[in-house]
Amino acid sequence: MNLIKVENYQEMSQRASSIILGLISKKSNPVLGLATGSTPEGMYQCLIKAYEQGDISFKNVTTFNLDEYVGLTKEDANSYHSYMKEKLFNHIDILPDQTHLPDGTARDLQLECVKYEQLIRDAGQVDIQVLGLGLNGHIGFNEPGTPFSSRTHVVELMASTRQANARFFNGLNEVPTQAITMGIETIMESERILLLVSGEKKAPALARLMKGDLSEDFPASILQRHPNVVIITDQHAC
Ligand code: F6R
Repeated sequence: MNLIKVENYQEMSQRASSIILGLISKKSNPVLGLATGSTPEGMYQCLIKAYEQGDISFKNVTTFNLDEYVGLTKEDANSYHSYMKEKLFNHIDILPDQTHLPDGTARDLQLECVKYEQLIRDAGQVDIQVLGLGLNGHIGFNEPGTPFSSRTHVVELMASTRQANARFFNGLNEVPTQAITMGIETIMESERILLLVSGEKKAPALARLMKGDLSEDFPASILQRHPNVVIITDQHAC
């Protein structure tokens, strides 16, 4: 794992966006794996800026998000569909048909997971998967205890994860209890992983990732086995 330490959140976001922009300018049909949450917001802003300056077009880019809450419609302000539109898609020239998130309102959630896996397979391979790091080591919504062999599946969110995400909702009771997430094996099949870690709160999780054992109790530890991981972290997290 290649650890890049930078001064602050802004620098982390810029470095991450340069890596993404590098891929888009080199590859004719790049496939990006995207994350939501607070961590990648700055990176998305940098990507929007590059687009507005005319440096890049996203017309040939295909995206797959890691996850979506179960039970929230695409239009719900707290859905990850809405997050992606608000934070990135509405501000760039990406083709809506080429952006993908699991449908958390699908009648048959298991079938939705199978379909999502198939869509990723049809796209070839995710070139760069962006990840944030959960306080408990989750990646995507793969909570501690998730088998490393998991594919896209429905998860019960842990109380601590719901608590951590309650800041986006009007209270803890509004935070969904389930989500659809890409599985750990699905994530590990990406060509490259770009893990962003920012802030003091993430320091223990980052330390465990760097120095701890490989264990399903700490899902991110599987990244130790991936041949091409870049971790960009600010001073606070390391
Ligand atoms: C988001 C996701 C999560 C977050 C993680 C960190 O799509 O899958 O794994 O990356 O919970 O969230 P933040 O960045 O809000 O600290």
